[in-house]
Amino acid sequence: MSPHDCRIIELPKVEDPRGNLSIVEEECHIPFRIARVYWIYDVPGGQVRGGHAFRKQQEFIVALSGSFDVMVDDGKTRRRFALNRSYYGLYVPSGYWREMENFSTNSLAVVLSSTSYEEEDYVREYKDFLEYNRNGQ
Ligand code: TYD
Repeated sequence: MSPHDCRIIELPKVEDPRGNLSIVEEECHIPFRIARVYWIYDVPGGQVRGGHAFRKQQEFIVALSGSFDVMVDDGKTRRRFALNRSYYGLYVPSGYWREMENFSTNSLAVVLSSTSYEEEDYVREYKDFLEYNRNGQ
């Protein structure tokens, strides 16, 4: 597996009769420094979020509550990951098209990002993504 592959990363889980605890540390459990954290919530049924790619941003997506699917596309192959536990997440390197869908009621998606928000980092049109990918940029 290349370090540039999308993959599920399992986080430490400290099981306890008082309730479980999980941890994520930058450059330890995930392969980047965290510049920003954002979360997506109150998603109405049937809505799709995140139809875009990032030029630089790497991210780690966790379903802190509820469930949703993340579809990732490298320009050739599409893969779908179902996220439904708070002790693992999906690492998405830069350069993947990704969409988030099938949000359950009251789901909470938290995204740890390697960059601060920059609109110029987004590739928002799928045809531009394919071109970006073809040119290997
Ligand atoms: P966007 O990333 O396009 O949402 P999604 O891909 O989940 O559909 O962001 C939606 C809006 O929120 C967009 O207008 C920019 C704004 N935004 C920020 O201002 N800062 C941020 O860190 C993020 C993630 C979004």
